[in-house]
Amino acid sequence: MHEVKLKPSRIEVMHHLAEKIDSSIEEYLKNIDDNWQPSDFLPDSRNQNFSKEIKELQNECKELPYDYLAVLVGDTITEEALPTYESWLMEVDGITKEEPQGWSKWIRMWTAEENRHGDLLNKFLYLSGRINMREMEISTQYLIADGMDNGAAKDPYKNFVYTSFQELATNISHRRTATLAKKHGSNQLSQICGVIAADEARHAKAYKSFVTKIFEIDASEMMLAFENMMRKRIAMPAHFLRQAGESIGQSFAHFSDAAQRLGVYTSLDYTHILESLIKEWDIANISSLTSAAEKARDYLMSLPERFKKIAERGLKAPVEYQFSWVRE
Ligand SMILES: [Fe+2]
Ligand SMILES: [Fe+2]
Repeated sequence: MHEVKLKPSRIEVMHHLAEKIDSSIEEYLKNIDDNWQPSDFLPDSRNQNFSKEIKELQNECKELPYDYLAVLVGDTITEEALPTYESWLMEVDGITKEEPQGWSKWIRMWTAEENRHGDLLNKFLYLSGRINMREMEISTQYLIADGMDNGAAKDPYKNFVYTSFQELATNISHRRTATLAKKHGSNQLSQICGVIAADEARHAKAYKSFVTKIFEIDASEMMLAFENMMRKRIAMPAHFLRQAGESIGQSFAHFSDAAQRLGVYTSLDYTHILESLIKEWDIANISSLTSAAEKARDYLMSLPERFKKIAERGLKAPVEYQFSWVRE
């Protein structure tokens, strides 16, 4: 006979983890006074040379290709929809605004760091002279108004799988846009995408560490949550993306096609992220699981190979698309 253990509820686990949140904040988030700010990477408008610096910035942006700009705008809109992510996470079970406040403090401080990303990209794109800002702003307002559904509802375990995945995905895409910016002549933009990518990597470490801790306390439930999220596939936060006059989500497929075409974020990256999470959480060696969780573990272990086969077979030629965001 198996020993029957009472499983801790998610709320209890979250309260337990919240007790040590200050050390996570210290480890994974930067001190605000010392942190980089968007203005560190932009021309200073008090400067006499301001207009000259803008000219230089614009010259550097002349060779950025159409698809590249479309993807960068999509990335920026995704960052700018931060109110959606913050309010979503604040609603998650165990993230209380009353005492103990640990988790809401994490969410606020994470949001404060994230907020610099959209701010910096938006200002840079405005100065670049290549973007139809009004069209971009319409899409941003729509994306915030439309919200998102990441499939995790209020479940903290599922949401932390989601955030671990997303921080890794944004790290990859910002890193690639950094490399491409350099290739096409803008060192300044390359540096901007690079510092943002570094933040995303740090945030990914944080969310992965939360899941690691949950695996230590509540392995079977954590395994089932991971499996559940992967069965649904991880939806991108901008999956409701649209342009003026479009219906909800109409632009998203075109945006992800452009990212795939450029190699900024591909279906193979999706598989690599999954593999890295399986390794990080040592899924293969987690034992003492319920039989349902054992099945979930076996499913997860088989998934990367399955995805690779599908990716090999199913590479459709992406279609070119005219985005209203890029000023011709
Ligand atoms: Fe970000
Ligand atoms: Fe992020």
